[in-house]
Amino acid sequence: MKKLTAFLVPASMLLLCAGLIFASPASFAQQTAKAAKGIVIPKKVNKILTASCLPCHSDAGRAKRALNLSQWNTYDPATQLQKVNNIGNEVSRGKMPPPMFVENNPKQALTAKQKALIAKWIKSSASAKE
Ligand code: HEC
Repeated sequence: MKKLTAFLVPASMLLLCAGLIFASPASFAQQTAKAAKGIVIPKKVNKILTASCLPCHSDAGRAKRALNLSQWNTYDPATQLQKVNNIGNEVSRGKMPPPMFVENNPKQALTAKQKALIAKWIKSSASAKE
């Protein structure tokens, strides 16, 4: 038994090390690097977007091509910047969430305070990139 553990412990440690080397794919490193450089959605903004935008702009939504918030961290920084500016335009012009949607889901309408929070985030994200 002692012999077996003497073998198993180093063997499993070796496997663990090998696993760490091979199982940490470049994509993970790339993603964390991207996330570090990219535009972070602050908690407060995230909450607003989750309620008012995610129904359509997520993996399961029908407008994920235009904007997929579920995949935010996989967008490269330039794309994020472009999307941030688009979000700013749509929200400030009252185009998003779509008026039809708001009519049926009045709770998902953006309040002036929420719009201001989004605008502030967009301003700081855009200037941070210049
Ligand atoms: C009811 C579904 C729905 C909701 C909710 C919704 N959108 Fe959209 N959105 C769409 C559709 C559909 C399009 C693509 C068609 C279009 O451009 O009008 C779109 C397009 C967009 C675009 C891309 C516009 C462009 O010209 O590239 C942005 C940015 C956007 N939405 C932001 C938002 C934000 C921010 C919210 C929440 C505040 C939101 N949307 C909520 C349906 C929705």
